Amino acid sequence: SESGCLSIIVLGASGDLAKKKTFPALYHLYRQGFLDSNEVHIFGYARTKISDDDLRDRIRGYLGKDAEHVSKFLQLIKYVSGSYDSEDGFQLLDKEISQHEESKNSAEGSSRRLFYLALPPSVYPPVCRMIKKCCMNNSDLGGWTRIVIEKPFGKDLESAENLSAQIGELFEEAQLYRIDHYLGKELVQNLLVLRFANRFFLPLWNRDNIANVQIVFREDFGTEGRGGYFDEYGIIRDIIQNHLLQVLCLKVKVLQSVLPIQDNEFVLGQYEGYRDDPTVPDQSNTPTFATVVLRIHNERWEGVPFILKAGKALNSRKAEIRVQFKDVPGDIFKCQKQGRNEFVIRLQPLEAMYMKLTVKQPGLEMSTVQSELDLSYMQRYQGVPIPEAYERLILDTIRGDQQHFVRRDELKAAWEIFTPLLHRIDNGEMKPKEYQPGSRGPVEADELLAKVGYVQTHGYIWIPPTL
Ligand code: BG6
Repeated sequence: SESGCLSIIVLGASGDLAKKKTFPALYHLYRQGFLDSNEVHIFGYARTKISDDDLRDRIRGYLGKDAEHVSKFLQLIKYVSGSYDSEDGFQLLDKEISQHEESKNSAEGSSRRLFYLALPPSVYPPVCRMIKKCCMNNSDLGGWTRIVIEKPFGKDLESAENLSAQIGELFEEAQLYRIDHYLGKELVQNLLVLRFANRFFLPLWNRDNIANVQIVFREDFGTEGRGGYFDEYGIIRDIIQNHLLQVLCLKVKVLQSVLPIQDNEFVLGQYEGYRDDPTVPDQSNTPTFATVVLRIHNERWEGVPFILKAGKALNSRKAEIRVQFKDVPGDIFKCQKQGRNEFVIRLQPLEAMYMKLTVKQPGLEMSTVQSELDLSYMQRYQGVPIPEAYERLILDTIRGDQQHFVRRDELKAAWEIFTPLLHRIDNGEMKPKEYQPGSRGPVEADELLAKVGYVQTHGYIWIPPTL
């Protein structure tokens, strides 16, 4: 059933996510030969009444400069308009998909249907109901029907469980692909290999050697244009509960061992000017910055703080994992005051991993200096394109590989960790600290880091190599 007719249906086809992420990812897959035009047809579905060409014109500009290939790709797309909660539209959609299947499948064939919900989660339940009722794959032909959805999956434990239950009544877990695009990033995908295929790390990866771990997301711009959406969710729901937590735990087991967040182990911030956005309420309490310390209660990690930090409108844009090692016992060079060993995985931009270590300062004197072993992708893998997260994940959905998607029990565990804190924020019990746009965030966050044992390096900065 892994060959034959493939229909990819993008619901919410005229929205932002579809234009900026879904269609470009499909185009790149097409360009690399993963979507065979003899098998594949793409359907856009939305409420707006527009023509096939109108939709094509709307997305053309997001696809790239190669006009000829772009046009060929756009010809694979057909548009169907209809509402998200009535049968007419979905029956029409089913008719179109079936026609395509009949025209493509001669003697033998299959019916593979991938529904990509580039929609707000409030319509996931009705849309799933309609798909189930009107648009399932033709069982005579075999194949499958799969549903791709993306966060926000609820706003807290209860609403998330409620959403999961509604969708779970209609589709099996094996048919559901919950995207967290951080799981599709090259260096996140590399984590398991790094961790388990290298003798280097095996003996070091534990509480005896690691002092603390930071998972950091910084953006150097605010909520531009998305204030309305953002204000309802805030930085914890937008970034920390999903993207950063997924990076932390590639296994559910770990999530279930996370202890409740302590009152003195988080700092919330809001940048000055955030509330000037007309779509943000004047009194908004929503954090645009948060540092949260998680404690994992198991044999390996007891006592090691995992610091998740995310912020908008900061002084730089980057995402990284920073593993800081403990001091060398009985350090004869007294060099630790320069900084500890760190292993840093730079997720973006300028993908890299580097190890900060102490070496002898080259020259006649016997003095020490911080330096690094650097694996920068741009330099080491010159000319090798790094796939977009969405590209890779969509390919996984077609191949039926669920390992880089969020399972229902995992989602539940993730919400369990943050829901108590989120409720207190929602109830106005917590006031975020104000910080200047373009700064490092509230000073209290750096103080918290120091308190839980992170030792900041002074006088050393990693400079990404250039070509
Ligand atoms: C999204 C968030 O999920 O991820 C955005 O809603 C954020 O607020 C974005 O900007 C960041 O993704 P990336 O891939 O640019 O790091």
